Amino acid sequence: MATLDQYAVIGNPISHSKSPEIHTLFAKQTNQALAYTTIEAPLDGFMGTVKNFFAEPQNKGLNVTVPFKEQAFAMCDELSPRAAFAEAVNTLYMQNGVLWGDNTDGCGLVNDLRQNNAIKIAGRRILLLGAGGASKGVFQPLMAESPSELVLTNRTAAKAEALVGRYKEKFVKNANAPCIAENLDALNGTFDLIINATSMSLSGDAPPIARRLITQHTVVYDMMYGKEQTSFNVWASAQGAALCLDGLGMLVEQAAEAFRVWRGIQPCTKSCVERLANKIEESR
Ligand code: ATR
Repeated sequence: MATLDQYAVIGNPISHSKSPEIHTLFAKQTNQALAYTTIEAPLDGFMGTVKNFFAEPQNKGLNVTVPFKEQAFAMCDELSPRAAFAEAVNTLYMQNGVLWGDNTDGCGLVNDLRQNNAIKIAGRRILLLGAGGASKGVFQPLMAESPSELVLTNRTAAKAEALVGRYKEKFVKNANAPCIAENLDALNGTFDLIINATSMSLSGDAPPIARRLITQHTVVYDMMYGKEQTSFNVWASAQGAALCLDGLGMLVEQAAEAFRVWRGIQPCTKSCVERLANKIEESR
């Protein structure tokens, strides 16, 4: 009897991960014979754990989560362009003995905005907050949607400047691309879409941006999610934002894109997002 293709999400800690539930739903829905589990790698033993995993022929792919995405990037033989720009990998697979790395986070954000929430990105003025790993993963996919302007801001301004500079350098034909790095206290005008890619909702800190950047037409997206509304979204709602979304849909969409990369089949995400949202609601 043929053994099932095996997949897993690898991180530390990992027991909280929703990825097994999501991918098991996708597999059922698309009739794919596969199993998906969690692997907790030791903090000092990520690369060894990945090598051992791929030494078994039935082990086909890994999702990578905190804190290993940069280490995954560093160990790949080949990278997708989006993983190369993000300098982080959340999807690994072996093809003819070659370890491939991809990054599906940005695609996940864009699909959640556009498909699940009918939010237009093209022609819109966007503020992206943060210049760490989360921001690096979504910057290029957002630019690919042709916003009228993407303003990147960060507590440590030099990191925002470096990311915009690297984008312009790498995508030469976009040397005049409509993206700028701006200091937090120099932001002006209003924004159609404000995306929080910082980890500040974890600490519950008040957002360091002026309330005048938000209008009644502004959509706010916090890439974090939790049982309760994130502190960033609580603040944005109080400023009168039109809509405040959290990152649950992005979590499902990045998984769907990883599933597509591995299996060549696009799962439908709607029922999965609804199911996870209902579970969170029930656990309140
Ligand atoms: P991640 O991979 O989740 O992006 P990270 O690389 O550690 O994590 O980046 C965290 C981001 O959140 C950074 O942009 C960080 O700003 P700095 O570059 O100045 O450190 C931002 N951040 C975290 N806590 C913050 C806070 N309280 N106020 C503003 N920005 C914060």
